[in-house]
Amino acid sequence: MQILVIGGFGYIGSQLLESLAAHETYRNLQVVVVDNWSYGRGMAPLQALFESRLPHFRSCCLDFSEPDDAIFRDLVRTSDYIINVASLTQVPSTNLHEKYIIDGVRTLTDLLTAEDSGRLRKVIDISSTSIYGPVRTHMPEVAPPYDERIYPDPAVALHNYAASKLIAEKIWQSERCRSLPFTVFRLSTVFGYAVGMRYNQFINQFLVDAVAGRRTVLPGSPDNVRPFVHIRDTARLMLHLLDHVPETNGEIINIGAARLNPRLGDLFARLAALLRDEFGIKADYAFAADLGQLTLEESYQVDFTKFETLVNFPLRHDFESGARELVTRVQGRS
Ligand SMILES: NC(=O)c1ccc[n+]([C@@H]2O[C@H](COP(=O)([O-])OP(=O)(O)OC[C@H]3O[C@@H](n4cnc5c(N)ncnc54)[C@H](O)[C@@H]3O)[C@@H](O)[C@H]2O)c1
Repeated sequence: MQILVIGGFGYIGSQLLESLAAHETYRNLQVVVVDNWSYGRGMAPLQALFESRLPHFRSCCLDFSEPDDAIFRDLVRTSDYIINVASLTQVPSTNLHEKYIIDGVRTLTDLLTAEDSGRLRKVIDISSTSIYGPVRTHMPEVAPPYDERIYPDPAVALHNYAASKLIAEKIWQSERCRSLPFTVFRLSTVFGYAVGMRYNQFINQFLVDAVAGRRTVLPGSPDNVRPFVHIRDTARLMLHLLDHVPETNGEIINIGAARLNPRLGDLFARLAALLRDEFGIKADYAFAADLGQLTLEESYQVDFTKFETLVNFPLRHDFESGARELVTRVQGRS
């Protein structure tokens, strides 16, 4: 059996491969990563690492959004499980989002619907809770928390990343994809240590900057509320869904928890206190809005009822345990 991980050398992909390597059953599958090496330097070490960790591992450097790639077509046809974690998350605004997110999902779904290999057991794609960004301002009639029935017009999305995710969701929900065993995650912002860790985002950046003695300017304002989820919970959940909970087929699901959806001012005060009390580190930080800087204010309280009732999968990690581990790893103390 074969599992195809598209974008497998990114932040979430790297943890997914770690979790696969630790999984009693899935570690013995053929594991194939397709990644176009968007981030250069970090990719080769990950390739070498997983060649040594997984018994049947290989990777192909290709752009999966290209419609005529024979290698990709063959990989899709021969895969039992497909997880798409490809995107350009380290580049906030680029017109490549349309190509990599929308064209990517179009290419993948075209291949999956053109020919039924009879093998496909599950395909997971990742959208984002950032699609809720414009609800507060453009859909004032909708009260938080926001559930999956909400579909903001992509034209008013806060950035072309979120607009592209919304359009990709529509592709999955189209009539031709109806019989595919797909699940789309509207995923909260991920945090925590991974071997292919991403630094340029809220919690990870704040913690690494603090360890390194750098100041962090956080986007938005302290009153914004945002949902988060730990990287290992995210990876474990993906593996859990491969062969369990068929009720998630055909569904778009908010992934996260109400307790991990805090007001940002409170969250970073908590993290700063942890750094001070447990590590003797004084975090120097401010919110962009408080500095009078032009900043995107993303703020959304998300409803996770569907995830909780449909999947029944406890999220184990909280902000404190995730921060503690990350700081310890970055300081080289573990
Ligand atoms: N990390 C988060 O907080 C978060 C939150 C919500 C949703 N998501 C979504 O989860 C997925 C994974 O996020 P991540 O943080 O691991 O991203 P990442 O940017 O760290 O990794 C993405 C990987 O995809 C690869 N890639 C990009 N375009 C490609 C293409 N056309 N063909 C092949 N490979 C390609 C990149 O080289 C990279 O290795 C993305 O879809 C992202 O939008 C992430």
